[in-house]
Amino acid sequence: MGYFAKLPRFPAILLVLVTCVLAATSPCSVDSISTTLAATEGAHVLEAHQISSNGTFGQAGDIAYPANATNLPSLCLTWVNVTSSLKSSYTFGLMLPDVWNARFLAVGNGGFSGGVNWQGMGVGARYGFATMSTDTGHNSTGQDMTLHGSTVVAKKIVEGYYAGTAALERSYYSGCSTGGRQGIKSAQDYPEDFDGILAGAPAWWPTRQQLWQLKVGAINLPEDGPGYIPPTMFSGISDEVLQQCDESDGIADGIIMDPMKCNLRLEKLLCRPSRAGNSSSTCLTKPQLQTLQQLYLPLIEFDADVHKLDYLYPSFGVGSELQMPASFRQDNAPSLYGTEYAAKYVFGDAAWDWRTNFSYATFVGADRLSPGDVNAVRHDLSEFHGRGVKLITYHGYADGLIPPGASRMLYDEAYAAMAATQGVELDDFYRLLFVPGMQHCGGGVYDAPWYFGGSGQGAILQDLGRQDIWPLPGYGDGRHDALVALMEWVERGQTLESIVATKFRDDTAEKGIVRQRPICKYPGQAHYTGSGDIHNATNWACKS
Ligand SMILES: *[C@@H]1O[C@H](CO)[C@@H](O)[C@H](O)[C@H]1NC(C)=O
Ligand SMILES: *[C@@H]1O[C@H](CO)[C@@H](O)[C@H](O)[C@H]1NC(C)=O
Ligand SMILES: *[C@@H]1O[C@H](CO)[C@@H](O)[C@H](O)[C@H]1NC(C)=O
Ligand SMILES: *[C@@H]1O[C@H](CO)[C@@H](O)[C@H](O)[C@H]1NC(C)=O
Ligand SMILES: *[C@@H]1O[C@H](CO)[C@@H](O)[C@H](O)[C@H]1NC(C)=O
Ligand SMILES: *[C@@H]1O[C@H](CO)[C@@H](O)[C@H](O)[C@H]1NC(C)=O
Ligand SMILES: *[C@@H]1O[C@H](CO)[C@@H](O)[C@H](O)[C@H]1NC(C)=O
Repeated sequence: MGYFAKLPRFPAILLVLVTCVLAATSPCSVDSISTTLAATEGAHVLEAHQISSNGTFGQAGDIAYPANATNLPSLCLTWVNVTSSLKSSYTFGLMLPDVWNARFLAVGNGGFSGGVNWQGMGVGARYGFATMSTDTGHNSTGQDMTLHGSTVVAKKIVEGYYAGTAALERSYYSGCSTGGRQGIKSAQDYPEDFDGILAGAPAWWPTRQQLWQLKVGAINLPEDGPGYIPPTMFSGISDEVLQQCDESDGIADGIIMDPMKCNLRLEKLLCRPSRAGNSSSTCLTKPQLQTLQQLYLPLIEFDADVHKLDYLYPSFGVGSELQMPASFRQDNAPSLYGTEYAAKYVFGDAAWDWRTNFSYATFVGADRLSPGDVNAVRHDLSEFHGRGVKLITYHGYADGLIPPGASRMLYDEAYAAMAATQGVELDDFYRLLFVPGMQHCGGGVYDAPWYFGGSGQGAILQDLGRQDIWPLPGYGDGRHDALVALMEWVERGQTLESIVATKFRDDTAEKGIVRQRPICKYPGQAHYTGSGDIHNATNWACKS
């Protein structure tokens, strides 16, 4: 029996007709997959089996990614263990769809969590990619080696599995947050691994990011102090910020297009006699206002050794108030992202106490140590650029976990390392897209459009049983889907100037579209052309 694959869904680039004659032994078995790995030291196939169309897969023990992949196309699922040293090993999952688009996709991780991202892989498989996700290893040091190691081994399997049907043409990466960092790190350290990288809200400088979270968490403490702002108050604060800033772009539509343009007067939140005791409106006491003001201040510390201020990290952007509480914690301590990071990764001392031991020296020490070498701070991407590879980064302006300024900082560092020193135009290969009203990696405030096929975005949609809208007719193209746009840029030289983000009613694709708007490449911004429906993307244009 042979099967004749339908055309790959990605239109017109490579219409590879995948045919395959099923031999006596199924190509999707531990034995067959193992033969593709013949001489790969330390790699060991744990599992391989065929999943039929509309199938589901997940691993009950996967604490980091408990959500299963659903609505899968017919594919071969494998799980591989790689022993990387006497003391360490990691595993990765790989989905090999029957209808293959001749491309490889690696999807990234989130937070600190090691685990195979089955749900994220399912999304990639539906596009037709042979899709891989690594658990990053049980030993957290050297996490990024595991993405590279998994990619090298997975590509061997892909090439072996599809041998005789089609060759592997291109490789891509898509990840957000920690996954965004993995993508940036890959561009810096393993430029040969991917032809295109989509990196959302990258946590590219973990020593600064995690300790910044500790810092902002500590600003809003102690909980019984006069300056404490309870998490429940942030929605009222957000409403006031929106009221003041919405029209700074000329249109009152619930979207702050450029947070930098707003002359925010936080003092208007101060309680006045007429408002005191009025539980239906938010007002702050003077100490609370001081706390709030500090949350917007960039992290700058005095370096006593050189008698200078040291700019360490940006802070929350205007418009990110609804997600700010995610960086705090409820039990009178800063975010675990900060305290755990410092105790476990920086000091290796569970008893490390932020109350007595947290200072500028902590930042300096952490940078010097760079635990696990995960900081993505080698900003010269010349080798990556030299391969003709493309990088798209994006960041929500309403992100309350990783400040959008961090992506600007990353872009500026690349500019300094390449444009300013070597005359390389970043625009040739590097895009930065700020998404007005988008929170961390996806989800929007006040009906801002945020869906454009970014990593993990499909999982936020409420449509039952699906984790993406691919290939929603008319919306799964390169104009509306960043991963497809990346392929078009890499493979057809079609440069990316903007992408259209979509807001579905109740974040449910089946319920239809509320509004769409172009997201313009930095430093550009979408402006209303002055006529027609403001909810229609065609009535907006990018301007620098
Ligand atoms: C796919 O599976 C889900 C449940 O697993 C089911 O509700 C749905 O009807 C199936 N769709 C098709 C097209 O078979
Ligand atoms: C995911 O699938 C596994 C088996 O493949 C099953 O044990 C588990 O209950 C499923 N989890 C969810 C959340 O459906
Ligand atoms: C992977 O192999 C290592 C030995 O190198 C072993 O300790 C580990 O338990 C294996 N992992 C799994 C999930 O089988
Ligand atoms: C993790 O790796 C480091 C460096 O290779 C090693 O020193 C440490 O013992 C390992 N930890 C565990 C729990 O295997
Ligand atoms: C309380 O605030 C609401 C909303 O701002 C306003 O409509 C109402 O009149 C206020 N009530 C009092 C007693 O001030
Ligand atoms: C933490 O602070 C205490 C008291 O100031 C000090 O004795 C200790 O050495 C510090 N520990 C670290 C890891 O800095
Ligand atoms: C947006 O406007 C264009 C041009 O007028 C029109 O063709 C298109 O159907 C509109 N889109 C929506 C979603 O209304």
